[in-house]
Amino acid sequence: MELYERIPNNVNLSEDKRLQRALEKWLPDYLDWWREMGPEGFQEKDVWLRTAVSVEPEGWAHFDYVRMPDYRWGIFLKPAERDARVGFGDNCGAPAYQEVPGEFRNPLRRIVVTQADTEPASVEQQRLLGQTCPSLYDLRNLFQVNVEEGRHLWAMVYLLHGYFGRDGRDEADALLERRSGNPDKPRILEAFNQPCDDWLNFFCFTMFTDRDGKYQLSALAESGFEPLARTCQFMLTEEAHHLFVGETGVGRVVRRTAQLMKENRNEDVRSLGGIPFDIIQRYFNYWYSYSLDLFGGEISSNAADFFAAGLKGRYQERKKYTEHLIKEDAFTLPVVEDGRLIERVVPMRNALNEVLRGEYVRDCVRALERWNKYIADEGVDHQLTLPSTRFHRHVGEYAGHFFDVDGSLIAEEEFERRRDEWLPTSADREYVRSLMHPVTEPGKIANWIAPPATGIKGKPFEFEYVRL
Ligand SMILES: [Fe+2]
Ligand SMILES: [Fe+2]
Repeated sequence: MELYERIPNNVNLSEDKRLQRALEKWLPDYLDWWREMGPEGFQEKDVWLRTAVSVEPEGWAHFDYVRMPDYRWGIFLKPAERDARVGFGDNCGAPAYQEVPGEFRNPLRRIVVTQADTEPASVEQQRLLGQTCPSLYDLRNLFQVNVEEGRHLWAMVYLLHGYFGRDGRDEADALLERRSGNPDKPRILEAFNQPCDDWLNFFCFTMFTDRDGKYQLSALAESGFEPLARTCQFMLTEEAHHLFVGETGVGRVVRRTAQLMKENRNEDVRSLGGIPFDIIQRYFNYWYSYSLDLFGGEISSNAADFFAAGLKGRYQERKKYTEHLIKEDAFTLPVVEDGRLIERVVPMRNALNEVLRGEYVRDCVRALERWNKYIADEGVDHQLTLPSTRFHRHVGEYAGHFFDVDGSLIAEEEFERRRDEWLPTSADREYVRSLMHPVTEPGKIANWIAPPATGIKGKPFEFEYVRL
């Protein structure tokens, strides 16, 4: 088989024999990992998938039936800009870095490894979900997300092998050795060790946790380290679909619950086989808070150093901002001091994790407003909410303190007393799992979720998205 068939790419892999050999050696290990940890029970089925065959507008979204192990995992970077420059920080305007700047080698490797680790982790978290899919349409979307996360792993491994020498090679191997949720060799970030064993979890995960990825990738897509920037730019085009799956998936669950409530005013949604709003709300509280942690500490000298070096910018740094130094600006945020919340002023550069988190929060609020409109459209009087960004945090300024969902500081005992009101209980999880029965007849859908507004790529909902 030709190299391009085995490892489709637009990085002239055939001209770099060392890199080619390294990736060809990694490929069979990757496939072993995929067969062991990828979607269980569907590896031999034909799935109607989108494959990137090039980065051109007509090439990056090619739809056809594919068996997942035969998916063309490739390495695609957005084409290089002529005369690319560092877009922000102390070196703003200098030529972009084509190699890793020496003094940032370790932190940059850490960033790439941390991002890379999330890609296989999510595939592992979701590997059993196919067995309880609510429809063939949803099954196909799950697999689309899974194969693209696999391709994102390839994109990051390309960077590790291509730019980080021997350390990079070891890191690439380790990415296939860690396992989501395994106490002996866990994935790096906690959100990626949480079980994702029902479809409400899956939709919340792709809504809230994948969305963190969008903001991290966007910040890196303008990195002065050009190979990283170009890799992230192309990943973002695929990531948009994952966020669509999450946002519309949650929206369809919410809509269905509202419909069931409207049709049977006096009945409990549970007795009708729907997911009640209080359970949905607790799932939101859980995934949203874990996803907020992914942005890192509110006050961070690493964030400042990365910005100064031109390695990680703000969301839409070039488009949204005219001033790219932010040396003088300050940022005010509430912190806990002597048992109470006070305002602290810090240099803006040290608050960039929090600035990025703020962009994310606004995006989540936008989606929330849309879901609440679905409820109102059905004539049901209920509003879903997002908790305060201080609620249930394990990273940053608020970790180790206790807050209610409105963000008020409370005692640990009170938090524990009210935990079941705010976070999913084992009974909630059991109930949601009890609804998860596979529906695999084309055009049919489970009772707890509404059908999508349209199918994929012009195909109707009834289309046979997966041939079982
Ligand atoms: Fe990804
Ligand atoms: Fe994703």
